[in-house]
Amino acid sequence: VVQLELAPRHSSQFCFHFAEALIKEQREIAPGVYSLWLQTEHIAEEARPGQFVSVYCHDESRLLPRPISICEIDKENKTLRLVYRKAGAGTAEFSGYGAGETLRLIGPLGNGFPLDKGYKKVFLIGGGIGVPPMVELSKQLPGEKIVVSGYRGGDLFLKDELSRHAELVVATEDGSAGTKGNVLDAIKENGLTADAIFACGPGPMLRALKAYAEEQGIDCYLSLEERMACGIGACLACVCKSKDVDAHTNVKNKRICKDGPVFAADEIEL
Ligand code: FES
Repeated sequence: VVQLELAPRHSSQFCFHFAEALIKEQREIAPGVYSLWLQTEHIAEEARPGQFVSVYCHDESRLLPRPISICEIDKENKTLRLVYRKAGAGTAEFSGYGAGETLRLIGPLGNGFPLDKGYKKVFLIGGGIGVPPMVELSKQLPGEKIVVSGYRGGDLFLKDELSRHAELVVATEDGSAGTKGNVLDAIKENGLTADAIFACGPGPMLRALKAYAEEQGIDCYLSLEERMACGIGACLACVCKSKDVDAHTNVKNKRICKDGPVFAADEIEL
């Protein structure tokens, strides 16, 4: 199989690549959750924690690419790991491919988490399919890290990877592992504290974390999971409300795919 990467495209802020990436391995790591390793030279070289790629279907009836966050980056082997949930026709198609087949994608996209803030101790909080980006972040973010992962039930996917570089605390909705409840219940039950929060997950979790960070007077960065279309800042299908007027749209909007997906919590309204 020939690996094809076209010349990079430059948008005003970011440079991204179109690639035909070779699948090295794909397996189901929890019911409906898939781990996919892709060989993709330039995207792996340039990717940062908290960025994402947009993956195209081979089935041309599904034109729009699916955004999937980057779980791990192996720059040495020029590979990327994506961990995604099978949630619709597009991701169902991806889950059917195996080693030796290819997928077309663009990336790396979005801004990623800030790694240079100098925090001594940080909460890395993932909820559901917001857990995967915490793996690469736990490797690259300096300082002490406590990962707090929230799952529906006892399938604690990525548990080993998350506990390699950080202390891991778990919450499950059904109480089958860790604290019964949500990520904030786990923080409170274990009496944990930190100087900042870096989080990715569903809206209600992010809203609760924004309020908690305000109450505690700590910094908070949130990665918004949103349905996207173009993925490169052109279509405005992914906007969220912001505190300040955006220079591009001239209204109080931010494009999650391009201005984000990571925002300081006080920049946005949830
Ligand atoms: Fe098109 Fe964000 S998905 S602007």
